[in-house]
Amino acid sequence: MIEYDYVVVGTGVSGLSFALRAAKHGRVAVITKRKSENSNTSWAQGGICCVADKEDSFESHIADTIGAGAGLCNKEVVRKIVESAPDAIEDMVNLGVEFDKTSTGEFELGKEGGHTQRRILHSKDTTGKEISENLISSAKKSEQIDIFEHHFAIDVITKEKLGIKENNEVVGIYVLDETKAKILTFRTKNVILSTGGCGRVYLYTTNPDIATGDGLAMAYRAGAEIANMEFIQFHPTCLYHHELKNFLISEAVRGEGGKLIGKNGKEFMHYYDVRGSLAPRDIVARAIDHEIKRTGEPCVYVDISHKSKEYIAGRFPNIYKTCLSVNIDPSNDPIPVVPAAHYQCGGVKTSIDGQTSIKGLYAIGEVACTGLHGANRLASNSLLEGAVMAARAAEHMTLQNKEEKQKFEDLMIPDWTSGEAEDVDELVVIYHNWDEIRRLMWDYVSIVRTNKRLKRAATRLQNLSKEVQEFYWNFKICSELLELRNLVETASLIVRCAQRREESRGLHYTLDFPDIDDSKIVNDTFISLQKH
Ligand code: SIN
Repeated sequence: MIEYDYVVVGTGVSGLSFALRAAKHGRVAVITKRKSENSNTSWAQGGICCVADKEDSFESHIADTIGAGAGLCNKEVVRKIVESAPDAIEDMVNLGVEFDKTSTGEFELGKEGGHTQRRILHSKDTTGKEISENLISSAKKSEQIDIFEHHFAIDVITKEKLGIKENNEVVGIYVLDETKAKILTFRTKNVILSTGGCGRVYLYTTNPDIATGDGLAMAYRAGAEIANMEFIQFHPTCLYHHELKNFLISEAVRGEGGKLIGKNGKEFMHYYDVRGSLAPRDIVARAIDHEIKRTGEPCVYVDISHKSKEYIAGRFPNIYKTCLSVNIDPSNDPIPVVPAAHYQCGGVKTSIDGQTSIKGLYAIGEVACTGLHGANRLASNSLLEGAVMAARAAEHMTLQNKEEKQKFEDLMIPDWTSGEAEDVDELVVIYHNWDEIRRLMWDYVSIVRTNKRLKRAATRLQNLSKEVQEFYWNFKICSELLELRNLVETASLIVRCAQRREESRGLHYTLDFPDIDDSKIVNDTFISLQKH
């Protein structure tokens, strides 16, 4: 049995920012199923919001966040996170993160959909990579932090799971050491889920292949409350190319004057919203979906060809280079794009300090639902949320531990037993189910939904869930099986939340209830093992 004061799952902005703070108070284990750099954070292009211009104000950032969130943001949470942005940025700069500056030394501020002001700090078009590299190198230098790469967190161990009924709380976590194919038991009173989102639940996504809803599914199985999973954000502009399936064309390209056009070269967004190509994402993604269905064309285009080659290569080097690699020259050619699953706006319900409904279990970053995003996230608010929530959770948790003078109880945690399980003989069964989930979610539970499609998805997912449970008990655990199990759980939670919301709001649009209905649910959709 391995003991740590804090066990963090995930190496994105929230997980590593938390680890660096908690390391001042105790020993920290960071668990990651691949390498440290494989996180959603390191793929983030656009940047991080912070009021930094004299024309801008906290009130304006708050209003834009609430405006995008379609009536479901928690106003207190929005204010606290927005007002903490300057401190979060200062901490990052102190760690060595370099944001682009103007010739006069101020931060160069970008713009994205739904923002009324320029307030996005960025590092060219690879902001996440810049943040991630600095956090990883600081965490690797800390003597208090051990990073366990190629370790897959399986399940949180709670007192309730051990049959102890009173005061449910975290006592540890089971983790698969993938290289040794061995299951380890970590004893800890503090588990911090910072596992990112679940884009891989859909056939088309801008997310890396690690985004399989692991933290969400783990929290649900532990009995934590889940909220608002119907709100999956589809990014309007994922590159449409058969060789590069999930490459994002940042909204910042539209922020710098890029226009959405159809095959005929004409703009269409003003038919849908006065803000045109820079309307909030839910509106733009739905408009593109409609245009694609209306015209029968496979994609639409982002056109930034009015800007010079030098400008595009300088401001968006990654996008420029990647497009050129598939023979698209953005300074000359419109870039073909389609919407793709991008961000999970709901998640594990937490307080403003990252606490879930289970003592000792915290969730921060995309996996969590703090109330910041409501029914639709404002672009570039997520790296900010990750950094701010990490600081708040670390402060809250360490203070609580001090007050309670935390000691490990003399509690027997059984080691994992594999029983009669055999090695998975044919991975094809796992991959087949994985493909089926992703396709059915894309066909039935994406940008436009109906009761009938949701019902079909729910029925099919119930069967798949049974099959996956059988695999789970009959075969030895491997990462493919764990991801499949988490994927099916996450997909089911999305469908169940979507079925509960009998209105169209933000990212949840259904033909059966096409309007917002403030008399019904102006509320979160909660699900937990206790409340079905
Ligand atoms: C983008 O660069 O378009 C993505 C930014 C975000 O999702 O916040």
